[in-house]
Amino acid sequence: MPLPLVPRPAAWLALALAVPLAAAAQTPTAPAASTLKALDVAVLAGTCANCHGPQGQSTGGIPTLRGQDGSHLLQRMQAFKANRAADATIMNRLMQGYDDAQIQALAAWFSQEVQP
Ligand code: HEC
Repeated sequence: MPLPLVPRPAAWLALALAVPLAAAAQTPTAPAASTLKALDVAVLAGTCANCHGPQGQSTGGIPTLRGQDGSHLLQRMQAFKANRAADATIMNRLMQGYDDAQIQALAAWFSQEVQP
C-alpha cells in the first residue's frame, strides 16, 4: 500500500496544538546561555557602540546598556523586534536584523560589568 501523502487528522491536530505552545514558550525570561561564541557576540555588539557608547557605556542621551539587568535588556529588545515598544524611534527597525539567539547573547553580554 502506498504511503498517504496527506497527514491523518491526528497529525494535523498535533501540529495545531504544537504551534501555540511553541509561541507561548517565547515569553521574555532571563537570558539563557547562548550558543554564540564570546568573540562573535563582541563583534555583534560593536555596532551598538556607535550610538550606545564604547562597551555600551553611553556618553550622551542614548541609554547606557552596560551593567543593566539582563532580563530588562532582553525584554526591551524583544519588544523592539515585535514592534511593541511605544518609545521606539530606531531600535524597532534595528532589531529586525537580529534573531532570538543573537538578542539573548547581546542581553547577556551587555548585562556583564566591563572587566578592568
Ligand atoms: C542608530 C543608533 C543606535 C544603534 C546603532 C543601536 N541603538 Fe539601541 N537604542 C538607540 C536609541 C535611540 C534608543 C532609545 C529607544 C529608541 O528611540 O528606539 C535605544 C534603546 C536601546 C535599548 C533599551 C535600553 C533601555 O534601558 O530601555 C536597548 C536594550 C538597546 N537599545 C540595545 C541595542 C543593541 C543591543 C544594539 C546593537 C545591536 C543597539 N541598541 C544599537 C539607538 C541605537
